[in-house]
Amino acid sequence: MILERSKEIRAAEAHLERFGVAGKAFLAPGRVNLIGEHTDYTGGFVMPAAIDFGTVAVVSGRADGKAVFVSVNFESTAEYDLESLKQRTRPAPRGDWSDYCAGAAWALAQEGIALPGFSMTVLGDVPWGAGLSSSASVEVVTALALLSHAGVAMRPEKMAVVCRRAENEYVGAKSGIMDQFVVSCGAAGKALMLDCRSLEYDLLPMPEDVCMVICNSMVKHAVAGGEYGNRSDEVEAGQAALRKCKPGIELLRDATLADLEVCESSMSRESFQRCRHIITENARVMEARTALLSGDMAGFGELMRQAHLSFRDDFAASCPEVDLLVEIAGGLPGCIGARITGGGFGGCTVNLVKAAQAEAFGQSLKAAYLAKTGISAEVYLCKASDGAHPLD
Ligand code: GLA
Repeated sequence: MILERSKEIRAAEAHLERFGVAGKAFLAPGRVNLIGEHTDYTGGFVMPAAIDFGTVAVVSGRADGKAVFVSVNFESTAEYDLESLKQRTRPAPRGDWSDYCAGAAWALAQEGIALPGFSMTVLGDVPWGAGLSSSASVEVVTALALLSHAGVAMRPEKMAVVCRRAENEYVGAKSGIMDQFVVSCGAAGKALMLDCRSLEYDLLPMPEDVCMVICNSMVKHAVAGGEYGNRSDEVEAGQAALRKCKPGIELLRDATLADLEVCESSMSRESFQRCRHIITENARVMEARTALLSGDMAGFGELMRQAHLSFRDDFAASCPEVDLLVEIAGGLPGCIGARITGGGFGGCTVNLVKAAQAEAFGQSLKAAYLAKTGISAEVYLCKASDGAHPLD
C-alpha cells in the first residue's frame, strides 16, 4: 500500500519547489458545529468543535515587497502589492480563494501589524463549500503564519476577531464569529461552547466512545451572499423591531419567547420565525452543555433533533437532501443525534454516533442516501481536534 504523503509534507515540498526556499509551516483546522446555528451574529451561544481536516500554510520572506500566495489545491498563484493590503480601503476582492488569504493579511495590517514581503503556499483538505469552514481555516492559518513572519504574538481569541473582520469586511460575507473562533481556539477531544457576545468560552470534554460522523450531502452551499445574507437580514430586521418594542433588548440574545410574541406585529412573519429559531436554539445550546457535562448523551441527541426541526421549519434553511440524511441517520444503529451543520441550504450533517458503530453507520447512511437520491455522499469520521498551531 502506498501511504498518501501528509498535507504538511506536500505543502512544504510545493513551497520549496515554487520559491526555492524552505518556509515555516502552520496548520488551522476546519470545524463542525454540534449545536447553536445562526445564533452567533446576534450575540448568542454556539457549540462547535475543530476537526481533523485542515489547511497548511508555509511562509517565507521575500525582498520585493510583494505578497504572493500559491494554492496547491487550485493550482493557482495570486500576487498582491503589499502596500495595497495596508490601505484602509481594501483592494477589490477577486472572487477566488485568494480573497481569504489577502483578507487575513489586510485585517492584520489594519491592526497596525507591519508585514514584510512574503511568499505563502496553502494546501488544505477541508471540503470546499461543504459548511465545514474551509474559508475560516484558510483565513486563520494565513493570519497565524503572517503573525509569526512579522514576529508578533497575538492571542488566539484576538486572532479570531481579526479573521472575522477579514471575512466580513474584505470578503464581504456577513458571518458571525463562530468559525474563526473555534478554528483558532479549539482543543483535541473537546467541544467549545462560546458566548458570542462576551467571547467567554468553555472547553467541554466529548465522551471518548462517541464519534462525530460528518456526511456531505454534496449540495453546494456558499456563505458569501445568497441565502445566508437573506437570513441574516431577516434576523437583523427582527432584532431591530425587538429593540424598538422592548427597551433593554440590545441583541436578540437578550429576548425571550414572550418578548418575541409581544412584538410579533412589529415584524414580518419571516423575521418572527427566524428569531423564534434563534431564541429556542440559544436555550438548546445551554441545555446541551448541561447534558454533555452530565454524560446524558441521549438528551444531547434529542436536542440535536429539535435543533434540526427548528432550523428546517422556523429558519427555513435546510433542503430536502439534508432532511433525508437526518431522517435516515435517526433510524440507524448507534445514532445518538443528527442534524444539519453550518450555514444551511445544503452542505453537511453532523451525527453523533457510538464509536464502535460509526464505520457501519457511515456505510449504511451513504448506501441509503444513494438509493433514494442517486447522489454519492461523502462521509468523514472526525475527531475533535486542536485549533491553529505551528507545525515545527
Ligand atoms: C456560517 C457562518 C457562521 C454561522 C453559521 C451558522 O458558518 O460563517 O458565522 O453564522 O454559518 O451557524
